[in-house]
Amino acid sequence: MIPRLAIAALVGALSSCAIPGPADECPLVIAHRGASGHLPEHTIEAYRLAIEMGADYIEPDLVISKDGVLIARHENEMSETTDVAAKFPDRKARKTIDGRTVEGWFSEDFTLAEIKTLRARERLSSRSHANDGKYEVPTFTEILALVGRHDIGVYPETKYPSYFRALGLPLEPPLIAALDAASLNRSGAKVFVQSFEVSNLQSLKNRLKVPLVQLLGDPDERPSDQAVMTYGDMTGEQGLQDIARYAAGVGPPKAAVSSEFVARAHAAGLKIHPYTFRSDPPFLAPVYGGDPAEEYCKFFALGVDGVFSDFPDDALKARASRCWSQAK
Ligand code: G3P
Ligand code: CA
Repeated sequence: MIPRLAIAALVGALSSCAIPGPADECPLVIAHRGASGHLPEHTIEAYRLAIEMGADYIEPDLVISKDGVLIARHENEMSETTDVAAKFPDRKARKTIDGRTVEGWFSEDFTLAEIKTLRARERLSSRSHANDGKYEVPTFTEILALVGRHDIGVYPETKYPSYFRALGLPLEPPLIAALDAASLNRSGAKVFVQSFEVSNLQSLKNRLKVPLVQLLGDPDERPSDQAVMTYGDMTGEQGLQDIARYAAGVGPPKAAVSSEFVARAHAAGLKIHPYTFRSDPPFLAPVYGGDPAEEYCKFFALGVDGVFSDFPDDALKARASRCWSQAK
């Protein structure tokens, strides 16, 4: 057995909350883009490693191809995480996306057959590039097939929903169809659907039977589909109560999480799943002394209900210590 799998098996054995208690006292570990601290993000291999580690959910960000197929990428611009620039040098384009000008190679300009010729690469220079060029870009349907073979939840995010709808490529119909086909559009399924926009979540409220999560950004920023309301407005008492009309939870940036915010969100009946926990030195704040468990335990003690992590193995180890239980 290679060391990585041995570590995964050990972490899996430690991953459940060891002391019996209400299930919601056990914060969820959501593998952010798969086990993306270890393998190139949004690949079947990164999701599978997260499953082996014992994560509760895998998180695919979803964009769409020219022929209407949902694929897992953090951006529709694919050159940061694939070899598209080398394979399709003449397909570079310039777009305006949510008010920003972006140059590159965009999912909506490529058929799924073309996207399937690409190979994923690690986004960050600070992480290993040993697996660049090996793995395909997966479809959402392929991810759901993987989910169906394991005891794992799935936590898809719609990326740029207004932008894609304006192109005539709305994300919501294929999202619903894929969940229906996988028998996952039902109460009790281990699925959360998330978005940084508001109106597409509100429209999904009556079309999906699974819980929705409103992502929150920087306080001064607005969701792309909102003319006036800022994310800061959404974190106040009234804002959270409004979110609770259509969503079961919020996904705030870590910096937005305080004990006051946790109290307000819980009072509104919302779960809290902050993003993004990362163990590697460019991201882990010096205050944690190089020990990611310190950060997880701080947030678990604040009362969050789950964490988005690039390193689900570290999140699971911290959770297994139940370091938050004395604080509750
Ligand atoms: O969806 C939670 C978190 O992933 C939001 O940030 O930009 O990594 O999708 P992002
Ligand atoms: Ca995401």
